[in-house]
Amino acid sequence: MPNKFAIITGASSGIGAELAKLAAKDGYELLLVADTPFVDASAGLAGAVETLEADLSTIEGVDRLLDAARGRQIDLLCANAGHGLGHAFLDQDLADWRHVIDTNITGTLYLVQKVLRQMVARDDGKILVTGSIAGFIPGSFQAVYNGTKAFIDNFTDALRNEIKDSKGVTLTTLMPGPVETEFFERGDMMDTSVGVNPNKSDPADVAKDGYDAVMSGKASIVSGWKNKIQATMANVTPAAILAEQHRKMAEPGSAND
Ligand SMILES: NC(=O)c1ccc[n+]([C@@H]2O[C@H](COP(=O)([O-])OP(=O)(O)OC[C@H]3O[C@@H](n4cnc5c(N)ncnc54)[C@H](OP(=O)(O)O)[C@@H]3O)[C@@H](O)[C@H]2O)c1
Repeated sequence: MPNKFAIITGASSGIGAELAKLAAKDGYELLLVADTPFVDASAGLAGAVETLEADLSTIEGVDRLLDAARGRQIDLLCANAGHGLGHAFLDQDLADWRHVIDTNITGTLYLVQKVLRQMVARDDGKILVTGSIAGFIPGSFQAVYNGTKAFIDNFTDALRNEIKDSKGVTLTTLMPGPVETEFFERGDMMDTSVGVNPNKSDPADVAKDGYDAVMSGKASIVSGWKNKIQATMANVTPAAILAEQHRKMAEPGSAND
């Protein structure tokens, strides 16, 4: 029986690096992908680990990732690569906000479409996509990012319905709240109240929630009980109030309030 094979994107740090540990422990052969070189990807990981540097905001980058799979059957895909972008939309550069959309939406969808077609054809395989509870909240001062996660949360719900007759295929959406990773530094949000919040989730716990959910075939998982409450409240709170609440945690300078 050949080894199980998993692709994990955004695996150089944070939630993706923790997903890689769980999949390695479970005996998956791994192809880990990020946009910058991995420092020491095999550290602490059992089994075969390959890494690839590819910009998954581009079709070419995703094609390079698919080539690197070398025709192996993909048993598990964790489509986790993504990034944020703080500050007011009117102050953001086109290239920067477009990179958020191209990574979080376009590259993710292209990869999921390619891999899911193979999985549905053989009626076997598992995909975990990292969305966010940010998708339930209009994200003042991180508006493009929250919009991309609203897209991902919504899109994966729809796609799951489209493939519901493929009983052997699982598509799970992981929806974390704020997590203690490099996300806020990379998004230039370290002067915000959410950026410096010391009570963010541990990426290992979030990855475990997502991994357990995809392994057990769950549709989606909001990680953490506080986030479950926040997600439920968001459904019954007017958008203007949610946007004002988001301003308080994401407005530049709010770290000092
Ligand atoms: N942290 C949070 O509060 C939070 C909450 C909810 C959801 N999420 C989501 O969780 C996922 C993982 O984020 P994280 O919190 O673990 O942050 P992180 O530590 O910054 O990890 C992000 C990963 O994505 C990779 N990546 C970003 N853009 C890429 C691109 N264009 N091509 C290839 N790789 C790319 C990064 O690699 P490079 O550095 O090489 O680009 C890194 O490996 C993201 O989808 C994020 O939106 C995060």
